[in-house]
Amino acid sequence: MKKLFVKTYGCQMNAYDSARMADLLAPLGFAGTDTAEDADMVILNTCHIRERATEKVYSELGRIRGLKEDKARKGGRMLVAVAGCTAQAEGEEILARAPMVDMVVGPQSYHRLPEMIARLARGSGERIEADFPALEKFDNLLEAVSDAGVSAFLTVQEGCDKFCTFCVVPYTRGPEHSRPPEKIVAEARALSARGAREIVLLGQNVNAYRGTDARGKVWSLARLIEAIAGIENVLRIRYTTSHPRDMADDLIAAHGAIEKLMPFLHLPVQSGSDGVLAAMNRQHTVEDYRQLIARLRAVRPDMGFSSDFIVGFPGETDADFEATLQLVRDVRYAQCFSFKYSPRPGTPAAAAKKQIAESVKSARLDVLQKLLMSQQDAANRAAIGMTSDVLFEKSGRNPGQIVGRTPYLQPVHVEAPAALIGTVRAVRLEALTANSLKGGLI
Ligand code: 5AD
Ligand code: SF4
Repeated sequence: MKKLFVKTYGCQMNAYDSARMADLLAPLGFAGTDTAEDADMVILNTCHIRERATEKVYSELGRIRGLKEDKARKGGRMLVAVAGCTAQAEGEEILARAPMVDMVVGPQSYHRLPEMIARLARGSGERIEADFPALEKFDNLLEAVSDAGVSAFLTVQEGCDKFCTFCVVPYTRGPEHSRPPEKIVAEARALSARGAREIVLLGQNVNAYRGTDARGKVWSLARLIEAIAGIENVLRIRYTTSHPRDMADDLIAAHGAIEKLMPFLHLPVQSGSDGVLAAMNRQHTVEDYRQLIARLRAVRPDMGFSSDFIVGFPGETDADFEATLQLVRDVRYAQCFSFKYSPRPGTPAAAAKKQIAESVKSARLDVLQKLLMSQQDAANRAAIGMTSDVLFEKSGRNPGQIVGRTPYLQPVHVEAPAALIGTVRAVRLEALTANSLKGGLI
């Protein structure tokens, strides 16, 4: 067996892609390993969304270069591939900055990896594959071989047509493309047969899903969720990441009607100021967003929310920032991600004149994160003493413990037999530790 080390940066889509790349390379004799040392092939599956994510990749490439040289000294060979969004956006630059990289492969070209490796083995060939062919990149995979895990990702949609002015995704992942619904349902069935009990539907703009079936009928995301909910062994369904503009009526209704659809939604708003939202080209107002939250809470009163926020977007005033804080106070989030605006080359906002000083960005991020943390803390504290369904996913660090998640993705440690992994049980939440809850079976 040859050793394959895949390092994943960024979003869940990348985690999914990494697992599928491992599946693709398995027939070539590659088996996964969890260290780059002595690996026969290293894939860095990169993220380009913020500058820091990209810089991490270059520093990791520096480290890998040493390992590759060690291996060569011992008479071996380590192939190094850079995949993901940095590969798509900076292919040439990667090869110039890190000449020891053997292959650069964009997100739409992973199915070509085996062929690229073979060509490389013959000592010839292109090192960059970064087109957007209409082809379905993983649909040629016969049977996934990696362990499904209790919670499994399933890509239903890729790409984004929204063109938020700060974001590289429409450039790195290309236009929106939805996979055929029958293929997705079949994959969900296969995942559940391999032990998956929770299916997380993935897409850069997942609720824009519009898949065409063999009869030419177009399925919405709500319809797809309903079909997957019909698979007996699928106990929980989630989807991410959604755009407020694409929260269709049937999707909102699904939250009230489909018990397996978890009452938790990641619905990024980015800012609580209409002026900033307009400059970001988000295509909705703060009031639109508030109404969506209210409608979801109306059909599902226990609905919890998370969001992404960007502070220090060009032109953001103190009043704009205060409006963001007010929105956060009003919505009361369960958990959130927040970032300082990072100019990405080639996006409209990067060229905006009124860039915000780094010190202002840092100060605003600090204030926002403290508020978000206090809300997350309050939500966790409020859970103590309550009973919650927990889907057990794996063994805990301490013997005799297993770990699962509540519907709101809070991790819970419970003393219970490993045989309960893959089942949902009622758990009394008893205490809060640093990053998780402790509970007892009822
Ligand atoms: N600067 C800062 N944050 C960004 N995000 C996307 N692009 C940028 C950028 N240029 C954030 C958004 C998005 C999340 C995945 O990353 O909040 O929702
Ligand atoms: Fe980027 Fe999301 Fe906006 Fe698409 S909707 S451009 S992925 S932030």
